[in-house]
Amino acid sequence: MTERVALYPGSFDPLTNGHLDILSRARRLADKVVVAILENDAKTPLFSVSERIEMIHEIVGGDGSTPVRSFSGLLVDFAQEVGATLIVRGLRAVSDYEYELQMALMNRRLIPSIETVFLMAKEEYSYVSSRLVKEVAGLGGDVSGLVPESVRRRLVGRVASCGS
Ligand code: PNS
Repeated sequence: MTERVALYPGSFDPLTNGHLDILSRARRLADKVVVAILENDAKTPLFSVSERIEMIHEIVGGDGSTPVRSFSGLLVDFAQEVGATLIVRGLRAVSDYEYELQMALMNRRLIPSIETVFLMAKEEYSYVSSRLVKEVAGLGGDVSGLVPESVRRRLVGRVASCGS
């Protein structure tokens, strides 16, 4: 039987518990889930791509069924390169929907055989985003429980060094 490969793309700057929850759900749908971190993002990231790969690796690594890769260019091209037939995206609130719908339809126009599937994280993560987590951590707020502990430690260290 052919292996079903899914691609879970994003900025992951940094990975949150919401992302992890989506990832564990995606693993039930596919034999392999490739986590794909966008390079050359127009947004200025807090963590470099290699730091993000390392952080995600620390948490999901050691398991060939969840490789962590970076990519540039079109997402659908990268999906083809890794043999993915599914693109997984998390949906939190209605506000996510418009952007996600546009991306899914555009990606489908580019390569019709690749399907985008939307997954909902646990309700307790429905308001969690990398952006808010960075903002709260940057202002000295507690983000434990919202990101993995190893990410929290790095985040606190990074925002402290950026602020000094
Ligand atoms: O976590 P994010 O920042 O919402 O992820 C956005 C991402 C990486 C999925 C999106 O920006 C993307 O796919 N970029 C690759 C470029 C591309 O393929 N653009 C056309 C898609 S409509």
